[in-house]
Amino acid sequence: MKDTIILGIETSCDETAVAIVKNGTEIIANVVASQIESHKRFGGVVPEIASRHHVESMTIVLEEALQQANLSYEDIDAIAVTEGPGLVGALLIGVNAAKAVAFAHNIPLVGVHHIAGHIYANRLVEEMKFPLLSLVVSGGHTELVYMEEHGSFKVLGETRDDAAGEAYDKVARTLNLPYPGGPHIDRLAHEGNPTIKLPRAWLEEGSYDFSFSGLKSAVINTVHNAEQRGEHIEPADLAASFQSSVIDVLVTKAVKAAKELQVKQVLLAGGVAANKGLRATLQTEFAALPEIDLVIPPLSLCTDNAAMIAAVGTIAFEQGKVSGYDLNANPGLDLEA
Ligand code: KG4
Ligand code: ZN
Repeated sequence: MKDTIILGIETSCDETAVAIVKNGTEIIANVVASQIESHKRFGGVVPEIASRHHVESMTIVLEEALQQANLSYEDIDAIAVTEGPGLVGALLIGVNAAKAVAFAHNIPLVGVHHIAGHIYANRLVEEMKFPLLSLVVSGGHTELVYMEEHGSFKVLGETRDDAAGEAYDKVARTLNLPYPGGPHIDRLAHEGNPTIKLPRAWLEEGSYDFSFSGLKSAVINTVHNAEQRGEHIEPADLAASFQSSVIDVLVTKAVKAAKELQVKQVLLAGGVAANKGLRATLQTEFAALPEIDLVIPPLSLCTDNAAMIAAVGTIAFEQGKVSGYDLNANPGLDLEA
């Protein structure tokens, strides 16, 4: 059977990324131009700067990916691009680049959902076994997603306020750590002990939703109160306490959902999946449930990349979900639609 070669484009936030994937599982090129250095001094992503960088990098990153794969556009079966959610100005650059290439070279165009991409990063590591559950934790999203088959997504629960990564970044800022703060808190947490009592938002009985803004405020208040009283708080202990609260809620809800829905596999996805404490706790919990296969992708596939977009794009293309030239950036795109 002929191979399916999909080129993926991702520009939803602060990475300009292009990748080429064979048969939905094998990466043959993966280029990511990160803008973190440009946003660092502002303590977060500045949308206008992100769009400008995407414009500047797009053609270079496209050419580099084709070169890495030693292919030309004639070899590409479809162009997959992140349609949403994300920053509208940033998404538009990727969508327009994808449309231009698709039109110029007469290649089918496939718009895909960014979170579906994060989930499909796992297919580049291991074949998916249905039904499955994915715990998606990133800078913009915290969701438990149930999948009965390829291309079908049911959101069991999501954050009602801050995403887990967002809470990490805000707590890091309070502790004067650089952006993005997740990796710094993670490192610090391993040097301290969870001795400070912080809340865990379980929400109402049976809910798979999350809430991290109360926890974030509790950390900020703890720091401010200590400052006012002239007391010293050990930042490592605060980081460890915060991290333990986040992990406790994420892992408890994921395990409960996995058991209740009798899934065969649990997939971790999103930038916060790089968290060492989260990875270790999930591994321990699921080791006690041998009937459920836990998949944790390598760090390079957890943060934003285009290989995951090409991977989910392959399934969409095979299912005939091809887009027209009227494809537009959709910052509020629905995963279940
Ligand atoms: O998925 P991602 O690259 O971008 C979005 O789609 O949002 O996730 C970025 C988020 C940031 O909030 C960053 O602080 C967090 O992932 N992150 C971490 C770690 N590494 C990255 N959070 C906790 N621990 C980490 N080791
Ligand atoms: Zn992402």
